[in-house]
Amino acid sequence: METKILYGRDLAKEIVEKIKTKVKNLKDKGLRVPGLAVILVGNDPASKIYVNKKHQTCKEIGFNSFSYNLPEDTNFLRLKELIEELNEREDVDGILLQLPLPEKLREKSYELIYSISPLKDVDGFHPYNVGLLTIGDDRGIKPCTPKGIMYLLNHYDIKVEGKDVTVVGASNIVGKPISIMLINKMATVSVCHIKTRCVPEFTAKADIVISATGVPHLIKKDMIKEGAVVIDVGISRLNGKIVGDVDFESMLGHVSAITPVPGGVGPLTVAMLMENTLECYVRRENIYSI
Ligand code: GUN
Repeated sequence: METKILYGRDLAKEIVEKIKTKVKNLKDKGLRVPGLAVILVGNDPASKIYVNKKHQTCKEIGFNSFSYNLPEDTNFLRLKELIEELNEREDVDGILLQLPLPEKLREKSYELIYSISPLKDVDGFHPYNVGLLTIGDDRGIKPCTPKGIMYLLNHYDIKVEGKDVTVVGASNIVGKPISIMLINKMATVSVCHIKTRCVPEFTAKADIVISATGVPHLIKKDMIKEGAVVIDVGISRLNGKIVGDVDFESMLGHVSAITPVPGGVGPLTVAMLMENTLECYVRRENIYSI
């Protein structure tokens, strides 16, 4: 069987180009450009890379980006004050608090996310936006990685209606929201997590497998039905190489389509963040066409 490689990188470039043109149109009309504030607490190396990529893409597009790199020992109140200040700022359309937070603040992550205005919640993590997503109301802001996966599936004409989809990983960032989005599109969804007794039982029956665990090469060929579609959201390091959750090489010739790591879902996450920032701006400014 021929395996199609689902590249997200090229799609992300197209999305970024489209937004760039829109920002140019705004500037030509003498209007304010969208602004994104990104808060990074501590020194997590992976988070630093992700945050830099977000700032770099803002710059490329022509968005204003505001960077808040705070020390590891920043306390809860200082962060909450900063978020409240950003909620009030006219020139800030989106607020992103990079996760995970340092150990001491981790249990307060959701309290901080709740303090971000739902209108500036570019991550779509606020309960207001999670609620709209769960109901299937498109007026909310959707989380970037799941939104990117749905974009990718739609672009490559991979239908989900009536399909058996297994999601491996039940995080609030990816696993849960992608499961809800798929249910809203009438897929039959199974969700596996660390307490699932037999993960292969669920992956082997699926038409589409989406893995978002961060465990390198967790998903092997014998866990996947021939001709299935595999979406790999994981990104980790194995023997000095960037790899995903899926043993990619072994899937070639076995599955009908698969996303590579890197160059698959990752770049779409950043592109969707840019889309969400523009969406928040458009709503705040009451602009109907750019
Ligand atoms: N950490 C890993 N992915 C994400 C994301 O999409 N948003 C935020 N805020 N933190 C993350």
